[in-house]
Amino acid sequence: MPADPLEPRRPWNGKRIVLGVTGGIAAYKTIQVARDLTRLGGEVDVVLTRSAQKFVAPLTFEGVTGRPALTNLFSAEGAALHIRLGRDADVVCVAPATADFLARAAHGRADDLICTTLLATQAPVVVCPAMNDRMYAHVQVQENLAHLRNRLGYQIAGPVTGALAAGEGSGPGRMIEPWQIEEAIGRALAADEAFSGTHVLVTAGPTHEPIDPVRYVGNRSSGRMGYAIAQAAWRRGAKVTLVSGPSLLDPPFGVELIRVETAQEMHDAVATRIGDTNVNVFSAAVADFRPADARQSKLKRSDTGGTMTVDLTQNPDVANDTRSARKAGSINVGFALETGDVLVHAAAKLERKGFDLLVANDATEEGAGFGVSTNRVTVLLPDGSNEPLPLLSKDEVADEVLDRVRPLLQRREV
Ligand code: CTP
Repeated sequence: MPADPLEPRRPWNGKRIVLGVTGGIAAYKTIQVARDLTRLGGEVDVVLTRSAQKFVAPLTFEGVTGRPALTNLFSAEGAALHIRLGRDADVVCVAPATADFLARAAHGRADDLICTTLLATQAPVVVCPAMNDRMYAHVQVQENLAHLRNRLGYQIAGPVTGALAAGEGSGPGRMIEPWQIEEAIGRALAADEAFSGTHVLVTAGPTHEPIDPVRYVGNRSSGRMGYAIAQAAWRRGAKVTLVSGPSLLDPPFGVELIRVETAQEMHDAVATRIGDTNVNVFSAAVADFRPADARQSKLKRSDTGGTMTVDLTQNPDVANDTRSARKAGSINVGFALETGDVLVHAAAKLERKGFDLLVANDATEEGAGFGVSTNRVTVLLPDGSNEPLPLLSKDEVADEVLDRVRPLLQRREV
């Protein structure tokens, strides 16, 4: 996710990534992609077309990747490279992909280093189109994209609707953002057959329970843990629905986001979907209580007489109250945030709420809990066993949790 520190991590770490840059103004954003992927541990070979070099310099990419940027099919180096790059790649990504590049790729042309690489590779290919909205809408461009997607199996990531080059207004044709390109590459690298074809439901964030139209009862959850799980499940190839309470985080890329405010809304959103999902991860910090009598208009200081009492009433338990609606054989993962006697409370919750896995942490421990990008968790299983994990980033915890869901999924084949 964009807010997290970029440290080497799965699925990018140690992977050979060919990053093709073609001639569009969005090429300036690809510099950030090359830098991030390198910091995520990838070996990034940047290949620029001749027109790309009108927009960005090879030296810029060399500065951020620490590797030579490749430009020339007909150098001594290029002659050997035109096969080797594609053969050795774990993934090939082209960003931005211009209309001209799409046409050449769809025709199997071999007149530059990026096109020869595509012909020589068996690695997954990610294409991030970027162009003027009229060009993007052209039937020939659409046919080329359909060919790349359906016939060649390329992942077409974007474009989105938004501001185009200066003076061109706004429309469909804008390249996706660098972090989204990195996620699309991550999906190509992390494909996991245990998750492909599954539907994963994740709850995340806090809930806000209104006192009046401007005040609420809530908690300090940022949503980071759940958003990381949703993104990691998508990367593995799942269809993902994220039911999120109020959170300031960017929506994970590729994930269906259902925004809710209250525990009741979260309950209703989960209840209508949980009959069809294969994996459910309940990472939301749902408020257990809500004001019994939410006011319709703002409560004035003068109305209170110096003190104020808010009566609270119990909220639904999202995980437990939707239990009977779960799809038979689905895998259910709970979270427990405790402030003492973690294992005892967590084991009771696992049993009480019918979870197959429970991820427990101690809010009082440094680096764990709300508002930080790291977590130290212990994973509990129904057989009474538990496995403490070291302090990890929330992205790593997400992958560790999914690694433990994986065998359960394979065993049940839901
Ligand atoms: N949970 C839920 N709905 C609630 C409360 C909790 O779905 N109203 C889910 C959480 O998402 C988590 C698990 O239940 O997966 C445990 O949440 P936690 O807040 O730790 O437990 P509580 O049941 O609220 O118990 P307590 O407040 O007594 O610790």
